[in-house]
Amino acid sequence: MNPRHDVDPHEGQGTAHEPTPTIWPVGFAVGIACIFVGLIISKIVLVVGVVLTAIFGFLWIRDATRPFRGEEAPAEPEPSRALPPGTPAARTSGPDPGQGEIVRFPRSKFLEATTLGLGGLIGVIVTAPVLGFTVLPPFIKQGHPKIDVGAIEDFPENKFVIATYLLKPEDGEVSRRTAYIRNNGFLDESPSFTILSNRCVHLGCPVQVNGLPLDDEAKTEKTAGDNVVTRIPTAAAAGFGCPCHGGQYDTEGNRTAGPPVRALDRYQFEIVDGRLLLGQTFSVSDVDGTGAEAKIHTYRLAGPGQHVDGPEGWLYPVQPPR
Ligand code: FES
Repeated sequence: MNPRHDVDPHEGQGTAHEPTPTIWPVGFAVGIACIFVGLIISKIVLVVGVVLTAIFGFLWIRDATRPFRGEEAPAEPEPSRALPPGTPAARTSGPDPGQGEIVRFPRSKFLEATTLGLGGLIGVIVTAPVLGFTVLPPFIKQGHPKIDVGAIEDFPENKFVIATYLLKPEDGEVSRRTAYIRNNGFLDESPSFTILSNRCVHLGCPVQVNGLPLDDEAKTEKTAGDNVVTRIPTAAAAGFGCPCHGGQYDTEGNRTAGPPVRALDRYQFEIVDGRLLLGQTFSVSDVDGTGAEAKIHTYRLAGPGQHVDGPEGWLYPVQPPR
C-alpha cells in the first residue's frame, strides 16, 4: 500500500475544526455603543448598554477561553469532501493519545494567548490614565460642606441679607460664594429661611439684588472652619436681576422675565446651637406661595440653562454630581 494515501492531503491547511462563529462580539459592540449614546441622551439607554455589555462580554469570554479550560469548542460541521474512487478513507484527526503519552499544549495556542494578553495589558496601561483624568474629576470631591453663616439673630425677619462665604477656606478668596438669605420667621415653631443662590440659571452670571445694599451695616465675622463670612443687609428687595442678559426673578426666585429656564437654585439649611448652617444646593422649577408657606418644587442640582421638568428636562445628558 502506498503510505502517501494514509494522509489527508488537506491536513495542516486550515481544515481542522474551527469554532463556530458567534454573535457575542456583535452584542458586545452594540452594548458599548448604547453606553456611549446613553451617556449623552438617557440613563435608561446607559443601563441597557451596561447590561448588554456585561452579558455579551461574559459569553464571549466564556467561549474564547474554552480551549484553555480544556473544554471542546462547538465545531462547525465540516463540509464533506469527495474522494477519488478507490482512495482509502482519509484520517481527519490525529489518534487519541495513548495511555502514558504526554498531551502537549500547542505552541500556537500559547503564542496566541500571550499576544492577546500582552496586547490587552498594554491597552489598559495606555487608556486607563487618560480615561481616569478625563472622566473622574467631575465625580470626585463635589458637593457643598456645611457653612456657618452666623447666628439667626443676624438675619432680620422678612429682609434679604447678602451673605458671602468661602466655599473652601483653604483655597482663599477664589472660592468665595454668595447667598441671599431671608428670615421668614417661624413655621410650626421651626425657624424658616429662604436661601437663594446668586448663580443665574440662564448661563451662570452672578444675579444681583434689585434693591439697595446697606453697606454701612455690613458685618464680617470669622466662623467655624476659619471661614470669613460677610453679611450685608438690604433695603426692601424687589427681586433679583441678572446683568448679563436681563434675566429677572421675583423674591421667591421665580423667573419673571428674560432667558432663564427655571427658578433660582436654593440652599438646604439647618440651625445648630442658634446658628444658621448652609448645606447642599438644589434646583427648583418654580415656587407657589411665599415665605414660610411657600410650596417649593425641588430637583437635584442642575446646571445653568438646564430644564428640570417637562419634556426638555428629558433631553439633557447624564450630569456629574455638583
Ligand atoms: S446669564 Fe443671567 S440672563 Fe443670561
